Amino acid sequence: MSGFGSLGHTCVVGLQWGDEGKGKIVDVMLEDFDVVVRYGGGANAGHTVVIGGERFALHQLPSGVLRPNVISVVTGGVVLDPTVVLGEISSLRGRGVAVGENLRISERAHVVLPYHRLEDQLAESAAGSGARLGTTSRGIGPCYSDKMSRRYGIRVCDLYRPERLRERLGQVVAHKNAYFRALFDHRQPLDAEQIAREYLGFGEQLRPFVCDTATLLNGLIGDGRRVLFEGAQGALLDVDHGTYPYVTSSNAGAGGACSGAGVPPTVIRATMGVVKAYSTRVGAGPFPTELKDATGDEIRERGREYGTTTGRPRRCGWFDAVAARYSAMVCGATDLAVMHLDTLSEFDAISVCVGYAQRGNVSNRFPADAYEFDEIQPVYETLSGWSGDLGRCRRFDELPENARRYVQRLSELLGVRLSVISVGPQRDQTMLLT
Ligand code: IMP
Repeated sequence: MSGFGSLGHTCVVGLQWGDEGKGKIVDVMLEDFDVVVRYGGGANAGHTVVIGGERFALHQLPSGVLRPNVISVVTGGVVLDPTVVLGEISSLRGRGVAVGENLRISERAHVVLPYHRLEDQLAESAAGSGARLGTTSRGIGPCYSDKMSRRYGIRVCDLYRPERLRERLGQVVAHKNAYFRALFDHRQPLDAEQIAREYLGFGEQLRPFVCDTATLLNGLIGDGRRVLFEGAQGALLDVDHGTYPYVTSSNAGAGGACSGAGVPPTVIRATMGVVKAYSTRVGAGPFPTELKDATGDEIRERGREYGTTTGRPRRCGWFDAVAARYSAMVCGATDLAVMHLDTLSEFDAISVCVGYAQRGNVSNRFPADAYEFDEIQPVYETLSGWSGDLGRCRRFDELPENARRYVQRLSELLGVRLSVISVGPQRDQTMLLT
């Protein structure tokens, strides 16, 4: 027991723009949980977990799959890329990780198809540098669009009806080919029959894992099993609450857990809001505290801030308490996990954004309009830095005084109880304060 069991069913959610270190915190918390649920997003996510010096990067499967006694559930809120799932299963098995009964995949999940990835790439290239969203090119937006439009969506359950799938893919691929040619002058049409054959094969390989995950989960909850809901990306990338249109296409915030998993909102008792001790963002979009200077480069190098999914260098900057307080509110964060505190050692001074200055006024308002951020200047509070290798600290009172002050100040600014501090990638480099 690591002490999280008393929280009850808990949602772990990033309060920034993703990459906060949720994979590690989920892995640590799973000591106390029986089930882990991936509720949204797709292979755009990148969760890194380090166990015994071995590094596991997962894109589509929940981090819990590394624990054979935990049931890992991929729900209907996820867009599922079978090529990625099957690749991850076979690579985990190749490294001695058993994947079998412990993995459950929803028959309701929408399937990412080759034309989704192609559309993502074509649309980004055609947008030109000023208008790109900077997506991960994993087909996430196009797949969710097809889901919502209802005309073209294909779900996991469709992979078990060969005739129906062939017929549907015939129509959908004809439409996509015409669209790609008309809009992007793309002249290499996709072959519906080839896709059908390939994806029917994937369906067979996935069959042992596929079930009605909503019924499974509600049953497990009824039986008293403890469930951890694992968010992907971060609340500031949530399609409804993030910096739209520079967001992903799913409800990455805590709200997505219930709709994605098919569990009632009353079930989730706690929300672990995960933040890095600073801010990062990959792709385009507002980032008021971005440091386009040597300090930003230093954070990137010390924190090894390169994307798990795309390898892109992450944009780095100081902690933005205005943005994180907004996402803590939207997600109902009850607990705060501050990750990567060790990365900030050796800075003489550390800044935290405590307000947004705009046209002579300072406020805590997080704008809906992404373009309004162009007028915003962060207002900083500066705290004294500290030195030393925090990676060796195991207890709060072993941290340098200024590091303690820093995390306490973040918790105060967000109005959320400080529960976890992480000072390195290993499981034991984690302090639990509850
Ligand atoms: P998409 O989700 O691939 O459509 O990308 C939309 C935006 O979300 C881009 O800025 C991506 O860089 C960002 N994004 C998507 N997934 C992640 C993630 O797991 N971590 C960080 N950023 C992400």
